[in-house]
Amino acid sequence: MELIRRLHLMREISQEARGRGRKIGLVPTMGALHDGHLSLVRRARELCDLVVVSVFVNPAQFGPNEDFDRYPRDLTRDADLCVQEGVDYLFAPSGEEMYPPGYRTWVEVEGLSDVFEGASRPGHFRGVATVVLKLFNIVRPHFSFFGQKDGQQVVIVQRMIRDLNLDVELVVCPTQRDADGLALSSRNAYLDPDERAAATCLYRALERARELIEDQGVRDARQVEAAMRQVIESEPLARLDYLAITDTETLERVDEIDRRVLVALAVWIGETRLIDNMILEPRKRGAHATMEEARP
Ligand code: PAJ
Repeated sequence: MELIRRLHLMREISQEARGRGRKIGLVPTMGALHDGHLSLVRRARELCDLVVVSVFVNPAQFGPNEDFDRYPRDLTRDADLCVQEGVDYLFAPSGEEMYPPGYRTWVEVEGLSDVFEGASRPGHFRGVATVVLKLFNIVRPHFSFFGQKDGQQVVIVQRMIRDLNLDVELVVCPTQRDADGLALSSRNAYLDPDERAAATCLYRALERARELIEDQGVRDARQVEAAMRQVIESEPLARLDYLAITDTETLERVDEIDRRVLVALAVWIGETRLIDNMILEPRKRGAHATMEEARP
């Protein structure tokens, strides 16, 4: 595996590989890699000839009072994990090269970016869409791999790909969880043992929604939301930020659950904000779908 720091080198490598007809897969990350990220890498390894993992803690997607400074960074460990997974290139550009002085251009995916995560984190998705487009332009991947864990991010990147006619295919991979259901996340490292135990309330609330929608056939979204809210409220260390039952593409709230829906929530556990989601379908048991499967 090769560590690439410079944009022009990454671009040259990709161009040369493309020229030789090799299928390029990109897994964009902010590092602090865990099994969630690695599940994306494994899928990329299956589908592509050349696998690029990017590690860039993107300042543009953090708000002024967010955790950019203390976000976990360990490139040596990330590189070791990438070697183990058979990654070809680890692309870790500098902030100076990604956003040089005079930088002015931003990508806005209107309507989808200012609700839910976007309402709680103004400017977040502008930063995400911009850096993802930049990474696509530098690496020129045929496939790019994203986790269902960040459900709204998937919807927004997919919308951007369509709207801007980008020549890349999104592959959405299922959320990886700990044995007790907590979705793997770099931010789980912030939790102390009591908070770690409390953090299972996100999954418990989603499981409650799954029972009501898929097992019991409940169609009233407000009823499902109320039941989920109860799960969160019975956990003293938890404070609900938002809860949403929406259309899987438009992210508009639904009143009646008569199709596949995205059930998403954000919860503060002490000082740590966690998100999770599931795609649920009325009266259907079995594996939880990803956004990709949700499309016709
Ligand atoms: P990051 O939070 O590092 O996540 C990188 C990718 O890993 C995302 O596609 C995310 O959905 C996926 N991922 C994280 N936890 C997962 C889990 N438990 N199961 C499956 N996939 C998981 O998301 C970002 O970085 C950034 O916004 C980025 C797209 C890199 C742009 O800066």
